[in-house]
Amino acid sequence: MASEYLPKQAEILSVKKETADTSRFRMKFVDPADREAFEYQPGQFVEISVMGAGEVPISITSSPLIDKGYFELCIRDTGKVTREIHKLGEGDIVGIRGPYGNSFDIKSMQGKEVLFVVGGLGLAPLRPVINGVVASRDEYKGVKILYGARTPGDMLFNEDLDEWSKIDGVEVLTTVDRADDSWKGNVGVVPKLFEKTEIEPKKTVAVICGPGIMIKFVMKDLLGMGFKEKDIWLTMERHMKCGIGKCGHCNIGTKYVCIDGPVFTFDQIKDLPDPY
Ligand SMILES: Cc1cc2nc3c(=O)[nH]c(=O)nc-3n(C[C@H](O)[C@H](O)[C@H](O)COP(=O)(O)OP(=O)(O)OC[C@H]3O[C@@H](n4cnc5c(N)ncnc54)[C@H](O)[C@@H]3O)c2cc1C
Ligand code: FES
Repeated sequence: MASEYLPKQAEILSVKKETADTSRFRMKFVDPADREAFEYQPGQFVEISVMGAGEVPISITSSPLIDKGYFELCIRDTGKVTREIHKLGEGDIVGIRGPYGNSFDIKSMQGKEVLFVVGGLGLAPLRPVINGVVASRDEYKGVKILYGARTPGDMLFNEDLDEWSKIDGVEVLTTVDRADDSWKGNVGVVPKLFEKTEIEPKKTVAVICGPGIMIKFVMKDLLGMGFKEKDIWLTMERHMKCGIGKCGHCNIGTKYVCIDGPVFTFDQIKDLPDPY
């Protein structure tokens, strides 16, 4: 039996620069059997490796519904391994293990409004969730996407934001921490966008991803508005190694983020030490 730590080879098909430090890598498995076997759900991640550099967990940003025959990862150049990935281009080979982790149960959100509250790179794991919801838009009461980035140049997936905003019943609000001359939109942190829209907590499910500090403030506001803890979904990041519940690196309290998560509802994590 093949080792569960053995990566499968995937070829990079294209690299799209999203911002100065973040690119979207489209890839497909070299072996058609691996391509066939790779089934994932919104919210899951893979372990991507580069020979001689190491392995890191990255969320899958493509949608199983839309993107057929390939998958996409949106990766920020932050350190040793991600820097090596950014040196790669079309035709280069990486190792992939996964998909790992749990996923968003978007069917359970049907009949409600879905409020996405997103900061920076948090849009990468939530992109397939948003695509899954808007693909069956009529099944949901409505969709609101509140997205913030540090500067206009740090906004990811601008084409998607534009496309989503054109869909009937989908509201997209964006903001930046620091504007430049080109920016005519909102300026301020993501929670400021709550003032710009009508939210009915009893009829809404919130889905959050972003930096810990953003999550802290967003949680305070949502609970203050009267959201039920089980109606707030988050996807969490922790330092990981194995990705499959063996090494303990991603442990917080009673949970292993790699197998119990990375997707949780607030009631599942609220009592854990320093959850975000
Ligand atoms: C489930 C999951 C999904 C992720 N999805 C994405 C994604 O879609 N796109 C993306 O760009 N990144 C994602 N990350 C973060 C990514 O794994 C780290 O940026 C990467 O491991 C850094 O490795 P490195 O060797 O390049 O940097 P290193 O040289 O190891 O570290 C550089 C800096 O990043 C910090 N860091 C390293 N790992 C993490 C981590 N897991 N969380 C927070 N800070 C970290 C280090 O403390 C250090 O300050 C995800 C992480 C997890 C756990
Ligand atoms: S990363 Fe090894 S147990 Fe979660």
